[in-house]
Amino acid sequence: MSTISKPVAFIIGYGSNLGPAIARKFKSEGFSVAVSARKLNEKAAKEDGYLGIQADFGDIASVRNAFDRLESELGPAAAVIYNAASSSPTSPSDPLANSYETFLGNVNVTGVNVYEVARRTKAGFEKLPAETPRAFIGTGNLTPWIQLPSLLGLSVGKRAMVNIVESSAAAYGPQGYRFYFAHEVKGSTGGPQIPPTGQAHGKRYTVQAVNCPS
Ligand SMILES: NC(=O)c1ccc[n+]([C@@H]2O[C@H](COP(=O)([O-])OP(=O)(O)OC[C@H]3O[C@@H](n4cnc5c(N)ncnc54)[C@H](OP(=O)(O)O)[C@@H]3O)[C@@H](O)[C@H]2O)c1
Repeated sequence: MSTISKPVAFIIGYGSNLGPAIARKFKSEGFSVAVSARKLNEKAAKEDGYLGIQADFGDIASVRNAFDRLESELGPAAAVIYNAASSSPTSPSDPLANSYETFLGNVNVTGVNVYEVARRTKAGFEKLPAETPRAFIGTGNLTPWIQLPSLLGLSVGKRAMVNIVESSAAAYGPQGYRFYFAHEVKGSTGGPQIPPTGQAHGKRYTVQAVNCPS
């Protein structure tokens, strides 16, 4: 069980857009926040009030090491946000143009390695006090439901994430372990919001994590 009083949020995929906005919002809601990316400046993250964990979520040893550091330095997370994604666009008329290795790299970072992230998230949830709300939120997009041949690796990865989230939500939801696949759409059309907006994600993600909606 965590010995610290503040709940912990772990933001994976801390780039220029969504990550900083989501991290700021969780911090303002009283969370201790850890952030992670490959090119992360841990010193700059510390100056912003976060635990910075430099890690490559395409590398499973690095994924495990990141969770080990999170738990030893802050404790298990009550909210895990997965923003990392990888794409190597091709021409729409040639979706098989990428090498197998490039395709697999896209799929692993975007989706398959979310399996290990979800496993470590659930293991962390089990160590939290009973009353702590728990949520995993994967940042998605519309690709599981539309045809986008130029982004096949990204799309297969997001579909994998949907599957991992749906299975985990169905199995562990009854005990209060919530798993979400979230994506932003334009209010006017229902089409994809590109680029996604940090403010909307920060607001919605903290509502889901803090208020324990059904
Ligand atoms: N409307 C929508 O719903 C919509 C539209 C577009 C995109 N999206 C989704 O939004 C998410 C992020 O968007 P964003 O605008 O915040 O992008 P962003 O600013 O580029 O942030 C994403 C960060 O993920 C990190 N990342 C990538 N590969 C990684 C890896 N192997 N290990 C660790 N970190 C990694 C990158 O940092 P490093 O390079 O330093 O690792 C990158 O800065 C993605 O999941 C994307 O698919 C949603």
